[in-house]
Amino acid sequence: MSNLVKNYINGEWVESVSGETFNSINPATEEVFAVVTKSNTIDVAQAVSSAKLAYDKWRLTPAPRRGEILYRVAEILTEHKEEISRIATQEMGKILAETRGDVQEAIDMAYYMGGEGRRLLGYTAPVEMPNKFGMALKDSVGVVGLITPWNFPVAVPSWKILPALIAGNTVVWKAAEDTCATAAAFIKTFEEAGLPKGVINLLCGYGDAGEALVTHPDVRIVSFTGSTQTGINVYTKAAQLGKKVTLEMGGKNAIIVMDDANFDLAVEAITWSAYGTTGQRCTATSRLIVQKGIKPRLMEALIAKAKTIRVGNGMNDSTNMGPLVNAKALEKVASYMEVARQDGASIVLGGKRSELGKGFFFEPTLFDNVTHGMRVEQEEIFGPVLSVIEVRDLDEAVYVNNNTRYGLSSSIFTENINAAFRAIRDISTGIVYVNHGTTGAEIQFPFGGTRGTGNGMREAGQAGLTSFTEWKSVYIDYSGRLQRAQIDTESILSEDS
Ligand code: UN1
Repeated sequence: MSNLVKNYINGEWVESVSGETFNSINPATEEVFAVVTKSNTIDVAQAVSSAKLAYDKWRLTPAPRRGEILYRVAEILTEHKEEISRIATQEMGKILAETRGDVQEAIDMAYYMGGEGRRLLGYTAPVEMPNKFGMALKDSVGVVGLITPWNFPVAVPSWKILPALIAGNTVVWKAAEDTCATAAAFIKTFEEAGLPKGVINLLCGYGDAGEALVTHPDVRIVSFTGSTQTGINVYTKAAQLGKKVTLEMGGKNAIIVMDDANFDLAVEAITWSAYGTTGQRCTATSRLIVQKGIKPRLMEALIAKAKTIRVGNGMNDSTNMGPLVNAKALEKVASYMEVARQDGASIVLGGKRSELGKGFFFEPTLFDNVTHGMRVEQEEIFGPVLSVIEVRDLDEAVYVNNNTRYGLSSSIFTENINAAFRAIRDISTGIVYVNHGTTGAEIQFPFGGTRGTGNGMREAGQAGLTSFTEWKSVYIDYSGRLQRAQIDTESILSEDS
């Protein structure tokens, strides 16, 4: 089959050894968008051995040269931005403006990490002995295994691939089964940029391929973004083998709106943070924590605004909310309508599949009368569903905000600088916004969350390099004689004189 999406191993586009395939479905039309090769453990082993072989040369390629290749990736991605965005929209559903933003994040990251080729900063510090020098260097590690989700099919992989490469590691990437055509289009930019063969390898497939990658003895580092259940499974398997792991999992992000908020700004931000990308961002707003005084007016305005959202195929410019990614996601989101009713929440908007014939569309949905602790207030639904919780004051708002199993992103709308700074101090999520929705993180700052969102690691910014490097401390003694550290300093000085 000519349009088969293949694996990329050792610089070649290859079918899986089993010859098995699966279909990638366009969620807006329910038609087959692409046929994809299905990897098994043998394919994984081949990809890892190609990456292992390539590592010896790549780690010795000067980092500024590695950076130049990443700059070329940025330029080629810019040229192909529209084409890749259109593939991604058809493959996973979000609207073109959003897939363009997704590709743009990878372009930004390629420039940022390209620049690291001339930094990768370590440090020197004074040492205890005379005629001795000490420094700490960021060192490459070897083969890294990456497992990524479908919701940001280019940006999230770029947060892992680019820092891993600039640091001198080689990569085996298992892309999400829903977005392998997009992954292949992204990989082509590395091929065109002249990345040496074997330095990056792509595997298309399911969880079994992901598990084989995580447990492969030659994979030293694992970086995973996706569901909490799978992430914990990855962590457990990798921990048994003593591997370093970066996890980025769920979110139950909230916007806090105080009585004194800039009203129109808050309405706009809540709408797009909750319903943009069909609520399928790990940073999406799924809880609105609202102070009592402003609540009635805010609810009215939100419902009116949400009714203007045009749900449809993301390829049409007039659409502003696409479908859910697949039938399973639709089923999950729909199941929470019953959960909400049982919990005693009221569905004041949406609550059902959109009547558009084909496609996994769900109406923008608003739950009122939600109280802290309800399942819909605690569990990640990952759809266009917003729960509203009323609070008395800032203390209660922060308490509700902080008390979920997740800790990714939060936001507060207030015109009171004291309240804003108190919220910044007391909110315990990894990302905090003031007078802005919970989405839209930029690549030069650490991205990730506290509590059940992750395992304390961060992606992006300087922090993103931590996942893919090890510190190497170097001591150079140029005294020409035996000097022993950690013995009494007085005696060293007297020996010296
Ligand atoms: C994600 O949903 O997995 O903060 C990533 C944002 C984006 C990244 C989201 N820049 O909205």
